[in-house]
Amino acid sequence: MGNRIKRSIFKKLSGRIKRLIKSSSVIGSGKWRVVYDISHDKVLKVAKRPKGIKCNKKEGRIYKKASSSVKKHLAKVFDHGRGWIIMKKVDTPFPDSKKYKKRLLKLKRKFKKHGIKPIDITRNRKPKADNLRLRNRRIIVIDYGNFKLKRKK
Ligand SMILES: Nc1ncnc2c1ncn2[C@@H]1O[C@H](COP(=O)(O)OP(=O)(O)OP(=O)(O)O)[C@@H](O)[C@H]1O
Ligand SMILES: [Mg+2]
Repeated sequence: MGNRIKRSIFKKLSGRIKRLIKSSSVIGSGKWRVVYDISHDKVLKVAKRPKGIKCNKKEGRIYKKASSSVKKHLAKVFDHGRGWIIMKKVDTPFPDSKKYKKRLLKLKRKFKKHGIKPIDITRNRKPKADNLRLRNRRIIVIDYGNFKLKRKK
């Protein structure tokens, strides 16, 4: 996956974010965003393409709205703006084991119960490990830019 941010997106970023991009190394990259290692416990995700702007906005919104019992499974959002978001760095890979697969399917049901459709954490009932991490053995979602909030009745 390339690390190039579309020029039209980069141009509109604030000086602070541009400086962070220039002084940090890339820690990961997906279809929509480039992720920079900005400190010992934080990453900066920047949109490469317009859909990435939406994903960042969505993560900000979901993190704000999630109830505490599911929020503890979302990587913490510190700050965000147009095209960027600063998030807690979570390093421990998601294990390839039956136990964690089961726990993930259980967590999916929990998200749904709390009004969130957790899209992109499994594919054909298999964990999408790229979007998942662990902290203190707890499952943490690091990419929830495609989650959906169910409308309250
Ligand atoms: N909070 C985080 N802590 C550590 N690494 C991260 C974090 N968030 C993202 N990364 C790294 O950056 C990669 C890309 O991030 P992310 O999945 O959020 O981008 P994306 O463009 O939405 O991806 P996708 O292609 O899955 O839609 C991740 O797979 C991971 O390696
Ligand atoms: Mg991803």
